[in-house]
Amino acid sequence: MKIAIGADHGGFLLKNQVRDRLIASGHEVRDFGTNSSDSTDYPDYAGPVAHAVANGEFERGILVCGSGVGMSIAANKVHGIRAALGVSPEQVALIRQHNNANILTLGERFIQEPAAEELVKIFLETPFEGGRHERRVEKIAELENE
Ligand code: RB5
Repeated sequence: MKIAIGADHGGFLLKNQVRDRLIASGHEVRDFGTNSSDSTDYPDYAGPVAHAVANGEFERGILVCGSGVGMSIAANKVHGIRAALGVSPEQVALIRQHNNANILTLGERFIQEPAAEELVKIFLETPFEGGRHERRVEKIAELENE
């Protein structure tokens, strides 16, 4: 799968671990940075990753910051993005099955390997259920035009 990944300084260590495991698993990954603990602004990484997913260049995105919330708020400003914070295996399955989330955000202060790896695996492998959820996801897109 083609995956775009990014982080701010609060998430770059976990981002690097997730990136390396995805590459080792055979995924095609582009790392949009950041790559050090130097202070950065999370929208500067959420934007490029979100646009790369929204324009179809990448099938999924993964964004990491300290809480995972700033990345989620920022990425969801981009038309066509459904970014959601990953909390537990069951909840990540639901953000795919019900919400068709195309970006997973993680908070490095709250989740580390190997739990993060499990969330990423579920995010990538769980299909959208469609059906009644299709209508609801379409209504989200309509909100962008209001
Ligand atoms: C950076 O200190 C921190 O605010 C950021 O990583 C993220 O948690 C924001 O939501």
